[in-house]
Amino acid sequence: MADKPQPTYLKDYVPYPFEVERLDLEFDLEPHHTRVLSRARYKRKEHVDVEEPLRLNGAGQTLLSLSLDGTPLTALDYRCQDSGLVLPNVPNAFELTVVTEIDPEANKALEGLYLSSGNFCTQCEAQGFRRITYFPDRPDVMTRYTTTIRADKQRFPVLLSNGNLVEQCDLDDGRHLTRWEDPFFKPSYLFALVAGDLVCQEDAFTTMSGREVLLQIYVEARNADKCDHAMLSLKKAMAWDEQRFGFEYDLDRFMIVAVDDFNMGAMENKGLNVFNSKYVLARPETATDDDFLNIESVVGHEYFHNWTGNRITCRDWFQLSLKEGLTVFRDQEFSADMNSAAVKRIEEVRILQSHQFAEDSGPMAHPVRPESYVEINNFYTMTVYSKGAELIRMMQTLLGRDGFMAGIRLYVQRHDGQAVTTDDFVAAMEDASGVDLDQFRRWYSQAGTPVIHVEQHYDGERQQLTLDVTQSCPATPGQPDKQPFHIPLRLALLGPDGTPQPLHLVNESGQQGAEELVLSVTAARQKFCFEQVGEGCVVSLLRDFSAPVKLTMNTSRDELAFLMAHDNDAFNRWNASQRLAGGLLLDLVDRVRKGQKLILEPMFVEAFRTSLLDEQTDPSLLALALALPLESFLAEQMEEIDPQAIFTAREFVRHEVAVQLKDDFLTVYRRCADSGPYEVTPQAVGQRRLKNLCLGYLAALAPQDNMIWQMILEQFSTGRNMTDVSAALGLLADHDNRDSRHALDTFYATWKEDPLVVEKWLGIQARSRREDCLEQVERLMGTPAFNLHNPNKVRSLIGVFCQGNSVRFHAADGSGYDFLRRQVALIDPFNPQIAARLVAPLLRWPRYDDTRSALMKQALEQLQAKTTLSADLYEMVSKGLD
Ligand code: ARG
Ligand code: ZN
Repeated sequence: MADKPQPTYLKDYVPYPFEVERLDLEFDLEPHHTRVLSRARYKRKEHVDVEEPLRLNGAGQTLLSLSLDGTPLTALDYRCQDSGLVLPNVPNAFELTVVTEIDPEANKALEGLYLSSGNFCTQCEAQGFRRITYFPDRPDVMTRYTTTIRADKQRFPVLLSNGNLVEQCDLDDGRHLTRWEDPFFKPSYLFALVAGDLVCQEDAFTTMSGREVLLQIYVEARNADKCDHAMLSLKKAMAWDEQRFGFEYDLDRFMIVAVDDFNMGAMENKGLNVFNSKYVLARPETATDDDFLNIESVVGHEYFHNWTGNRITCRDWFQLSLKEGLTVFRDQEFSADMNSAAVKRIEEVRILQSHQFAEDSGPMAHPVRPESYVEINNFYTMTVYSKGAELIRMMQTLLGRDGFMAGIRLYVQRHDGQAVTTDDFVAAMEDASGVDLDQFRRWYSQAGTPVIHVEQHYDGERQQLTLDVTQSCPATPGQPDKQPFHIPLRLALLGPDGTPQPLHLVNESGQQGAEELVLSVTAARQKFCFEQVGEGCVVSLLRDFSAPVKLTMNTSRDELAFLMAHDNDAFNRWNASQRLAGGLLLDLVDRVRKGQKLILEPMFVEAFRTSLLDEQTDPSLLALALALPLESFLAEQMEEIDPQAIFTAREFVRHEVAVQLKDDFLTVYRRCADSGPYEVTPQAVGQRRLKNLCLGYLAALAPQDNMIWQMILEQFSTGRNMTDVSAALGLLADHDNRDSRHALDTFYATWKEDPLVVEKWLGIQARSRREDCLEQVERLMGTPAFNLHNPNKVRSLIGVFCQGNSVRFHAADGSGYDFLRRQVALIDPFNPQIAARLVAPLLRWPRYDDTRSALMKQALEQLQAKTTLSADLYEMVSKGLD
């Protein structure tokens, strides 16, 4: 590459030398030639040198004119560089008017102003605003915006921006105008504009202080019947945020717009959230239970940003987790309260353990507050989001819920209207609660997943149980040595019948006799001694996953089986089942690799049967406990990953369990059969999950077992909701025969006009166990169902194949790697964000056998050798080869 993109460092942060008192924007929208006029009032901050130039970010636009206090500037007055404008001699206070032209139609990076299905929309986070006009595009520059939009009235009847609508009128030539005023100071990344032919579903919400807020969801006309669930979710989120956090909405209207072309999930622009249509649109016939639940959580997430992100924002992008970690925590708590808290917690942890832990042990490992980046878009990661949320949760655990809420109130009281740091957040927590979080701060600065090892020693004579706890953390790029973390370790001692025993810590002055305790683990090695501990107690550790760590402990399989059946912490019951199944599967993987005969231990099948036939427990929890550990979870625990052996071992267990428990699966399947109208209640969702789990196991016997095969076909053709239909189709698509081809064709013919359903159809085929899966994927890429410019389509076909179909992607001949390399090379020139995300699986090459790792590395090297790599892809590839 000619010039290597340079990193930005946290340590180099300097405040912006000017204040911006206001910003007036005017847009004349034309798909190919949009004119943007921006008028900003700048004022030099006190104590800033008069020599200090004005620097504005800007890219991908044509500068038409520039004037200062009404006087046009000439080329001598400023320098126009690739990355923006520099004006060396500016007065202390002045108004700068910039007129530029941009081409939204040609914008396939989907950053800045672009067109989606013929409608204008924007995505400015993190640094998209600089593609709209020249401006200090950084989150610590906050100002008040007014936005005037002019466009053809017929093509673009709806013209939206942030804040309140203050003017609306018709112009000459069939154009019309709207003007919006946002009374709140905001950074440029929260700016939004939408213009198009959209219909709108309206509702209202009365806030806790009695203000009426207009709620609007804008979609294309064909989707008008798919907004009810998002609207309901929004109203629930608004009420919940008042009750739980005391946060009230602050504008007169709140708008959501759904667009089909979107790089991420959704965006919290002030008063005008823009969503990937996937997280808005749902009807039972088109969306699955998980889609419904995801919509609730994403609508909540973006709404919650209004306080945690918008009112209080980030000083710089290294602080991204300030808003994302906190807001993910808030959306998790919301979903937990709306549905089942235990189920939600297990799902979160399952994703964290398989994906965030993998990130933490790979070449892209970074702290929750990174120290440097080449391209900030590469840092919208599981670490910043999900691990960041775990840090907030740990603070709540350490401070208690009241202490934590006091911390939140102090945080808001101190920082409303400001752009701040994660340190400011922790300081508010400390000051409000009196709890010292000095050591805790290392969670923000040290990357890597800590490993806790616990040795238990029981002394029957003295009735004492000692836990010998050691912690360590593996080296990560740039961080060879780690200091001990402050780890909250929640535990209980269960008596032989499963009841929690009162806890008595030796040499503790504090409260004794509690049934559950949070130990603060702070040293590299530490012992905790409990007294009055009777014979046969079992320790339940890291309850509710009280810290994002890997826990190892000398627990026997019998103890795991005991915990799986008796632990009163639902998370730990699930965790025990995963540890048990995980241990067995890893043993089997080992046997596969050694070419030994595979046998399934009877105790596993029995434990499985007991759970399956349990009619008391929430069926969602059963379905989670009965699901085999994810391939990625198993992979993460292997020294050298063998995707083929993992696949073979899992398939063996799946088949063996199906053979031995066929009748039980049939009984439960029939018991959970669909009845009554579709509802997204925990009970109904749980029934469907358990039913489809049974069908998934039974499918291991088909198509040889014709009765089972017919059952799957039957569910496919008579299923009354997308959850059941797509579950059946997924099982059919694992085979190549007349029935499955017919099912795939029928499904496509029914839904080809609905892009979100077509995505499911693509995803199902990309996940297929068929050996010729890659061939199918490549074939599908050439059909009208696919579109390389649409991120959802790319993710559901290419992304799913490369990240969700490990055994086929890692085919030993390297065909999967070569495929991914070609797609990344095709996409990078027009959409770097998507290319950089897609390439991630190749970065894990050091974890595989010599043949695979050489092929994966080679694919990365071929990418690196290209002359024109985006900064996004460059950063990923070069970190992967470091
Ligand atoms: N703030 C958004 C959210 O978490 C994510 C937007 C990220 N966009 C991007 N291009 N990096 O809800
Ligand atoms: Zn967010």
